[in-house]
Amino acid sequence: MDSQVPRHVGIIMDGNGRWARRQGRPASFGHRAGVRAIKRVLQACEDLGVHTLSIYAFSTENWTRPRAEVRALMRLFHETMQREIDEMHQRGVRIVVSGRREDLSPRMRERIEEAMERTRNNNNGVLNVCLNYGGRAEIVDAARRLIRDGVPAGEVDEAAISARMYEPELPDPDLIIRTAGEHRVSNFLLWQGAYAEMLVSETLWPDFGEEQLKAALIEYASRVRRFGGRPDVQAKVS
Ligand code: IPE
Ligand code: IPE
Ligand code: MG
Repeated sequence: MDSQVPRHVGIIMDGNGRWARRQGRPASFGHRAGVRAIKRVLQACEDLGVHTLSIYAFSTENWTRPRAEVRALMRLFHETMQREIDEMHQRGVRIVVSGRREDLSPRMRERIEEAMERTRNNNNGVLNVCLNYGGRAEIVDAARRLIRDGVPAGEVDEAAISARMYEPELPDPDLIIRTAGEHRVSNFLLWQGAYAEMLVSETLWPDFGEEQLKAALIEYASRVRRFGGRPDVQAKVS
């Protein structure tokens, strides 16, 4: 496999609100356009050889937004999941949803469980939807599981924590893209993204597509990942 192509890309899909506001429309208009961008980018991932795509759809902090916007977003997630599941399944995409599902409505949880169950054996690609997701909440939840599992303090190591993350079998993200020009992580994949390459795109999420993803992958291929070591020196010694 070409290591120049990231196996796992995470995207902080930002800029829906600004995109809508520029057109004098409510944020929900931008969120709808954002869903179309997800479809384009998922297709582009398949075409370009990116196996796993994690998308940040709703953070644990996004509940603080105006109620009407939160409600519109939840409705949109539910509707999209229902509408797209057949096609995703046909394309062999496995859908996973990461986040605190217990805070979502029962009908949303049903859709999520159905989608995950139906697509669990697909292996053409993985779409990890981070919904009511927070990196800190995920670490807290992992700590709770450690305690519940009765793991003694001396046996708590990185592997024990990693195994208790929401989707432990997914590889760590190689590349995290944030759209709409903001240079912050906003609680996304804090544990798994320890050594992810970061890339900020100025493009607002609803305008993001294959062209922008290709540009991001070209930039990624030019990066030297060191993981704290000196791979260049080692190469000379051996
Ligand atoms: C990202 O777009 C989508 C969600 C957080 C759900 P925003 O809605 O944050 O867009 P801006 O930042 O207001 O432009
Ligand atoms: C991050 O975007 C969350 C998602 C993309 C779902 P926000 O728009 O919520 O982040 P901040 O508030 O600008 O940090
Ligand atoms: Mg935002």
